[in-house]
Amino acid sequence: YSQEEKSEDYLFKIVLIGDSAVGKSNLLARFARGEFYLNSKSTIGVEFQTQKMDVDGKEIKAQIWDTAGQERFRAVTSAYYRGAVGALLVYDISRHQTFDSIGRWLNELHTHSDMNVVTILIGNKSDLKDAREVSTAEGKALAEAQGLYFMETSALDSSNVAAAFQTVVREIY
Ligand code: GTP
Ligand code: MG
Repeated sequence: YSQEEKSEDYLFKIVLIGDSAVGKSNLLARFARGEFYLNSKSTIGVEFQTQKMDVDGKEIKAQIWDTAGQERFRAVTSAYYRGAVGALLVYDISRHQTFDSIGRWLNELHTHSDMNVVTILIGNKSDLKDAREVSTAEGKALAEAQGLYFMETSALDSSNVAAAFQTVVREIY
C-alpha cells in the first residue's frame, strides 16, 4: 500500500474454515454483531461480513468469509479462498473428529491460497468444559507443528473471539 492511501483503504479478506457445526458462523456473528444463536442452521453457500477494526490505532476493514463445513453445501472452493490473506481454522473442543479434520482443511487452504496466509488454529466451544475431548496441550502442539497461531474461543460466552480476529489482522498488517 502506498503512503497516500488512507487507512480505511485497508481491506483484508479472512476466511473461516472447519467442519460443520464447529461454530464458524457463530464466531462471525459474535464478532461482527455481538450475537449468538443456540440453534443455528448450517450455512449454505457463502456469506461474508465486513467489520471495521482498530489495530494499533489504524482503522482496518476485515472482510470475513464464512462457508459451509459440509461439502454438499459449499460453493466453488477456489473462489472462496481467492485473495484471502488470513484464515481461521476452527475445530470444536468437544468433538475430537473435528480436530482430526484439521490436516485436511490445511491442505485445502494451501492448495487454494498463498502459502503465507496468516492462519490461526481455533479450538471453539471452550465453555463446554465437561464435554472436552481435545486438550489445550493437543491444540497447542498441532499449532506449533504446523506453524499456526493458536487460541481457544467461545462464541457462546465471547471468550477470545475478538482476540482471535485481532491476532490474524495484526499479523497481516
Ligand atoms: P456449518 O455452517 O454447517 O459449517 O456450521 P458452523 O461451523 O457455522 O457452526 P454454527 O456456528 O452454525 O454452530 C453450530 C452449533 O454449535 C450451533 O448450535 C451453535 O449454537 C453451537 N455453538 C457455536 N459456537 C459455540 C460455542 O462457543 N459454545 C457452545 N456451547 N456452542 C456453540
Ligand atoms: Mg455456518
